[in-house]
Amino acid sequence: MKKIRISIIGFGVIGSGVAKAISKKRDHIKHRYGIDLDLVGIGENNGGIVCEKGLDPMEAYNLARSREMNKHPCWKEDMKGIKVIREVDADIVIETTPTNIDSGEPGLSHMLTAFKNKRHVVTSNKGPLAVAYKELIRAAEENEVQFRFEASVGGAMPVFNLVRETLQANKILSIKGILNGTCNYILTRMSTEGMTYEHALSEAQELGIAETDPSYDVEGKDTACKLVIIANDIFGIDSTYKDVEIEGITGITLESLKLASDKGYAIKLIGEVEERLIVAPRLVPKDHLLAVGGTLNIMSLNTDLAGEITITGKGAGAIETSSSILSDVINIAKL
Ligand SMILES: NC(=O)c1ccc[n+]([C@@H]2O[C@H](COP(=O)([O-])OP(=O)(O)OC[C@H]3O[C@@H](n4cnc5c(N)ncnc54)[C@H](OP(=O)(O)O)[C@@H]3O)[C@@H](O)[C@H]2O)c1
Repeated sequence: MKKIRISIIGFGVIGSGVAKAISKKRDHIKHRYGIDLDLVGIGENNGGIVCEKGLDPMEAYNLARSREMNKHPCWKEDMKGIKVIREVDADIVIETTPTNIDSGEPGLSHMLTAFKNKRHVVTSNKGPLAVAYKELIRAAEENEVQFRFEASVGGAMPVFNLVRETLQANKILSIKGILNGTCNYILTRMSTEGMTYEHALSEAQELGIAETDPSYDVEGKDTACKLVIIANDIFGIDSTYKDVEIEGITGITLESLKLASDKGYAIKLIGEVEERLIVAPRLVPKDHLLAVGGTLNIMSLNTDLAGEITITGKGAGAIETSSSILSDVINIAKL
């Protein structure tokens, strides 16, 4: 049995969700792959839990949900994220702190510190990748460690691993799709229920689909970050967030949705990578594969051998996103 020691940095919705998923899947992963995932450290903003002999991931999850992590017997106030990365002997650091698209911090420093300490990194955090993809890849290579980020684009949808492991003989010619569930939910509610933009947005906020400050989603910035990661990783296009042409959904009216619908089209916020990186509302025929509704994400990959491959799935959610994170963890552990 191969023991893999794990630290989780940022124990919010996704970080604690990964702990829950480890608890749920630990036996399955042991029996199927001979890999034992051992959670040895958690680093938060205000302290951390460290136990080199291994923590009970479900206990940590429950304490995080009830905001009582400091009641854990191994809680230490001075064991914040970066200190856990430096001092706790983990093979893999799972980085799940908030996305920051201006500086990439705190995730960027967390990842670079993990590489320097010869730890592999798995992340769902788009920010550092959108501002410093090249620097991160170079740092991982120089330190001879792995860096995986399947969960950073499309939550549960497996795009990077699909291209790396299953479509590896193909040239990917273009990718386009719906990469933001919040926008898709708002546009779906506006077109199917005739709700105004403001009404659909406040419904999405009440349901916890949209943030209190929704600008990152509705102005297309979140989709743009995802395109940058796709462009760098799949197309080898050296780009950052600043290279994306962005238009969000805030200007879409009920009238324009109705006009489109009468002609057989839906309006969707589409992200596209071909030669340029573009995020913009587009007309999509209602019976087209890309016209998925609700919070779903979808991506169409145009390839030279396989033709068009389309994947769809949940772009957010703690357990769904953990599926991608654990897939990266298992892939690294198998090496
Ligand atoms: N939620 C989703 O469905 C989803 C899906 C795909 C990708 N993602 C990405 O995954 C990441 C995590 O998302 P989330 O929804 O879990 O966010 P979240 O609930 O806000 O969790 C982030 C956690 O990181 C902590 N944190 C902040 N600064 C830190 C630091 N310097 N050191 C250690 N911990 C720190 C936060 O603590 P405080 O609250 O005290 O600041 C919080 O507990 C984000 O980058 C997000 O974009 C999320």
